[in-house]
Amino acid sequence: MVKKNACIFISGKGSNLKNLIKKSREYNFPVKVKLVVSNNPTADGLNYAKKNSIPYLIIDTKSRNYEEKIIKELRRYNISLICLAGYMKIISKRFLSNYKKKIINIHPSLLPKFKGLNTFTRILKNKEKKTGCTIHHVNEKLDGGNIIVQKSFYIKHNDNEISLKNKTQQLEYLAFPEAIIKIFR
Ligand code: GRF
Repeated sequence: MVKKNACIFISGKGSNLKNLIKKSREYNFPVKVKLVVSNNPTADGLNYAKKNSIPYLIIDTKSRNYEEKIIKELRRYNISLICLAGYMKIISKRFLSNYKKKIINIHPSLLPKFKGLNTFTRILKNKEKKTGCTIHHVNEKLDGGNIIVQKSFYIKHNDNEISLKNKTQQLEYLAFPEAIIKIFR
């Protein structure tokens, strides 16, 4: 199988990055992780890039034209899929138009419910019965693009923000690879 090249954008822990690197080693997984982009120079996730000898780019989002720098690297590595995995910055319209239909994001709720930040606090406050995660295409609206994969679980009476986050992340590790397979099927 000829694999396409993927780039993973992170800002923090990078457990989804770790999982995608592992998955991409499977011979029939459609992409390989060729590049990692982080807006945070101290993101723990960068260690997975280093450990696996994957080139990484640390960007300073305060510098002008930082997206141009990213695009230059994406072209250099012939990237056909961008996965936002805990990337905490908004992607500009201009950037989106360069990579239409090629950017996907993971969000820790059952979209369209609970877009934006602090999802677990709001989910508990709202006394939801179910929650989960969503992989969706990225468009100019925050957490608004077409849904590719969603996975859910029932919330228990003793769940708290930490347990919800843990359970959601376990589903994320299944949902992200599944969405990538679906895209290239
Ligand atoms: C994930 O829970 C994802 O839903 C959210 O950010 C988190 C990133 O986690 N967008 P990690 O850095 O992959 O561990």
